[in-house]
Amino acid sequence: MQETTGALILAAGRGTRMPSPRPKALQTLLGESMLALILEETAKLSGLAGIWTLVGHQAELVRAEAERAAAALPPSRADAPRIFCIEQKEQLGTGHALMTALPEMAGQAEFDRLLVLNGDVPLLSAPLLARFMQEAGDCDLAFLSLELPDPGAYGRVVRDREGRVRAIVEAKDYDPALHGADPHEINSGLYLIRRGTAESLLPRLSSDNRGGEYYITDLVKLAADEGLDARGILLPAGDGGEALLGANTPAELAEAERLLQKRRVRELLEGGVILHAPESIRVSPLAEIETGAELAGPCEISGRSIVRRGAVIASHCVLRDAIIGEDCRIHSFCHIESARVEARCLVGPYARLRPGAVLEEDAHMGNFVEMKKARLGRGSKASHLSYLGDAEIGPGVNIGAGTITCNYDGTRKHRTVIGAGSFIGSNTALVAPVELGEHTLVGAGSVITRDVNAGELAVARSRQVNLPRKK
Ligand code: UD1
Ligand code: CA
Repeated sequence: MQETTGALILAAGRGTRMPSPRPKALQTLLGESMLALILEETAKLSGLAGIWTLVGHQAELVRAEAERAAAALPPSRADAPRIFCIEQKEQLGTGHALMTALPEMAGQAEFDRLLVLNGDVPLLSAPLLARFMQEAGDCDLAFLSLELPDPGAYGRVVRDREGRVRAIVEAKDYDPALHGADPHEINSGLYLIRRGTAESLLPRLSSDNRGGEYYITDLVKLAADEGLDARGILLPAGDGGEALLGANTPAELAEAERLLQKRRVRELLEGGVILHAPESIRVSPLAEIETGAELAGPCEISGRSIVRRGAVIASHCVLRDAIIGEDCRIHSFCHIESARVEARCLVGPYARLRPGAVLEEDAHMGNFVEMKKARLGRGSKASHLSYLGDAEIGPGVNIGAGTITCNYDGTRKHRTVIGAGSFIGSNTALVAPVELGEHTLVGAGSVITRDVNAGELAVARSRQVNLPRKK
């Protein structure tokens, strides 16, 4: 029978080398937290019994992000893994992390092997994870290693003359007199461990080391000393080893983000996306840009954004969880979040679509227009200087410059409805709740507080008086 695997993401640590009030796993690359990136790739693996995130330091924040990211995973496959969180109340090291997690995991699902990932190795990709698991085969314990010219703060892989793994020795504890000349092979922090092996060796871990912590890496020596099959799987040079770099410090995080940005740009170009100034195009791995779309940098596209073929996004736009339909044109300096723009719309420059905004096909939204929880119907136009919030605007409507939906009365939000083919004169205030029927006409400068029936003209402003000037 096929072996099953439980994946554990270690994200409970303090992250003392990242001097930020935000937990390390929540630091972002291209707009996504490290934890979300790792969850995304792990969830692509098939045949997982579950994915557990270990939280501890600032547990509630990390748990909330794990839950948010899990809920935002792409629509589930038949065998999508279940996702859980476990709390490590005291952070006594990566070995202690495993001691804490394993019994709880075992209570929640059946699995034969454990895949353990560090929550601060954000560039790991699903293909690399799958390849590692394949190469690890059925050994008792495997870890992925890498050769680095400068092994820095990473754990050192110690092998015997025959090349068999003997131990991983942490940088702090490495002593050339004891362990031999400092090797360049380092531990990437990715492990596949047979559950029985973990259960029998974990009680033997000790914290008698320079860090005073229980190290997961000590399992390697324990396994090797027992004569178990412990393997260090060395990723060959030039084989994408940068995907294994840890992001422990601001400098490492910036470097990881730079590498991810380069990787993403390469993927987009290979996928037939036209890019201008690619070095300043920041597209998250979660966002999908279709073949034949066109982007100009600088720009930022993150979350579950989708840009369909033929759409053109000019420079200086920020998109998050935005859907941009075919052949749309988004001019410069637009900000679009959790909103949908259907095919052939024109947007911006300087337009802001907030959550729940929808532009139906062929709509136009011009400069300094803001929309929130509002729908602009097919072919409708709001070309200048407007706020449309909590509004339902039918097709073929013209919203004059300076139109404002007054949706908030100080306590509650109210809706504005504008029927098809209506024309709203410039500088109109629509005091919600208010409903305008189809083909209504509103005189410029009106303050509309009452409903307008279909086909009516409404003018709500004081009549102009022209008097002779006093001499
Ligand atoms: C670890 C490895 C090191 C390896 C490196 C690769 C150990 C002892 N060392 O070092 O061999 O080269 O990763 O990146 O494992 N964590 C917990 N609970 C804890 C402590 C840590 O969940 O009690 C989590 C952290 O949040 C982090 C991960 O475990 O995501 C690794 O911990 P970290 O302190 O970053 O280990 P490194 O020193 O980088
Ligand atoms: Ca680390």
